[in-house]
Amino acid sequence: MTNSAGTDQKLRGARACVFDAYGTLFDVASAAQRCSASLGDVTPRLAALWRDKQLQYSWLRTLQGRHADFWQVTGEALDFALDALGIADPGLRERLMQLYLTLDAYPEVPAVLRQVRAAGCATAILSNGSPAMLAAALDHAELKDMFDHVLSVEDAGMYKPHPSVYRLACDRLGLPAAAIVFVSSNGWDAWAASAYGMRVFWCNRQRQTRERLPGNPDDEGHSLSELPALLMG
Ligand code: LAC
Repeated sequence: MTNSAGTDQKLRGARACVFDAYGTLFDVASAAQRCSASLGDVTPRLAALWRDKQLQYSWLRTLQGRHADFWQVTGEALDFALDALGIADPGLRERLMQLYLTLDAYPEVPAVLRQVRAAGCATAILSNGSPAMLAAALDHAELKDMFDHVLSVEDAGMYKPHPSVYRLACDRLGLPAAAIVFVSSNGWDAWAASAYGMRVFWCNRQRQTRERLPGNPDDEGHSLSELPALLMG
């Protein structure tokens, strides 16, 4: 549906906005970037490989029914990435892991969260991150008070995109999926939430190609700044 101003209204009237954390609110590449003096030219490769392996391990563990929390998975993915790039430096490994607890939030995040609340939506996080990881990141970014709920997959015992993770958000918020706008920069996560029945804003920061998976995000932008106007229609 399109209003007189020409903006579509698919996200209008939602009761809650549920945000993915890593990649959506927090810049996962910022940990490697802060070690670029040590990593040199391989900084972007390390960041990409670390992230790719972290996600692959989360999916594979869920398929295998062998859950381990995201702190362990993140560490094992980093060990793989460092090994693949021929880097043996325990001090650097420790520094990168600690930096994962203090990732930079994207600059538009605080203002967007205020606007989302002003639009009458509850705010929540639904993330693979363990409760301790999410608490540390929110603390560092001074965003703790901006969320009504911080939900970790630890309560589902498996990772996204298993439907039970999206169900956890509906259960905890006491809302049907269609009353929730899910917001993620991760295409596979956005598609899965849509397939589950949520309305979805795909924050396509990296201008990635559309996924060929069940689901179809309702709206797409290149940062979170485009979201509040869509909620208000
Ligand atoms: C998360 C990962 C998918 O925060 O970015 O759940």
